[in-house]
Amino acid sequence: MKVVIPGGTGQVGTILDRALTADGHDVVLLTRSPKGERQVHWDGSTLGDWAKQINGSDVVINLAGRSVSCRYTAENLEAMMSSRVESARVVGEAIAEAARPPKVWLQMSTATIYAHSFDAANDEYGGLIGGGEHGVPGYWAYSVKIAQNWEVAQEQAATPYTRKVALRSAMVMSPDRSGVFDVLSWLARLGLGGPVAGGRQYVSWIHDQDFARAIRFLIERDDLAGAVNLAAPGPLPQREFMRELRSAWRMPVGLPASRWMAGVGAFAMRSDTELLLKSRRVAPGRLSDAGFTFAYPHWRTAAADLASRRRRG
Ligand SMILES: NC(=O)c1ccc[n+]([C@@H]2O[C@H](COP(=O)([O-])OP(=O)(O)OC[C@H]3O[C@@H](n4cnc5c(N)ncnc54)[C@H](OP(=O)(O)O)[C@@H]3O)[C@@H](O)[C@H]2O)c1
Repeated sequence: MKVVIPGGTGQVGTILDRALTADGHDVVLLTRSPKGERQVHWDGSTLGDWAKQINGSDVVINLAGRSVSCRYTAENLEAMMSSRVESARVVGEAIAEAARPPKVWLQMSTATIYAHSFDAANDEYGGLIGGGEHGVPGYWAYSVKIAQNWEVAQEQAATPYTRKVALRSAMVMSPDRSGVFDVLSWLARLGLGGPVAGGRQYVSWIHDQDFARAIRFLIERDDLAGAVNLAAPGPLPQREFMRELRSAWRMPVGLPASRWMAGVGAFAMRSDTELLLKSRRVAPGRLSDAGFTFAYPHWRTAAADLASRRRRG
């Protein structure tokens, strides 16, 4: 198959490029800074020569979006929103104009669309969409709005011959440098990987190999369209999540951090505390119902595998 991945040069794109290329597919990445012949220039917002790549392709997986690991200034929030909505809109336009459109368009979304929740896990059927929670910072609603507008941009695209799936993905854990697992592992190995603000908040995650397997599954399953959660069935409170991560690195100590310390730490790392404090309890309802099974349903074995692959480089 020919697979086109707009925004495929980042962490998730690297995982998919590696997996789908190993499967023997012809993978093309759309990027604002192309390097090498498999990367094609686009600007993420206007139609151009790149649209020829979409015409005649089999699968499009759009991952483009300004990183959310940044300070939530007005300028960055606007870039987080526009880079996602604009790229989804223009990918839709390219598919709509294609004489030979792809059979499926997988559009990245995020598990952050669900409400801050400690109780029942949010699945696609009855899961509570966020934005209206009490007792959380008001600006958290903006991340939910980004996710909603992102999905609407895909829904509104007039692409009748192309199946559309919105990927409500939890944090994708891979041993690659600079990914979220790498950053959390670095903190854990420094002895700083303890509970944050009590650590009751849930962490939803997915192992990189399960993420790639779920993408293959969604490409093949013609009966699946709409929003699909990509999250392991075992989300767990942050304090347990970090305990397992420390144990994978054989680090006995993990200093706890209060809410204000998390604020200082996030500021120092040019990030935002929402990424640490929002409770993301998400279940893979549709994937499981469709018969998908996870190779790494539990964080303990996932973390051990990721740490051992990281050690091996
Ligand atoms: N990583 C996760 O665990 C996770 C979980 C859920 C959802 N997501 C979402 O999945 C997507 C991919 O995640 P990732 O971790 O691979 O992100 P990433 O490493 O930051 O890569 C995102 C890619 O988007 C492109 N991009 C950035 N700003 C852009 C802009 N203004 N216009 C067009 N393209 C732009 C970049 O490509 P070029 O610079 O080459 O153009 C970059 O390679 C993101 O939208 C993210 O929010 C990620």
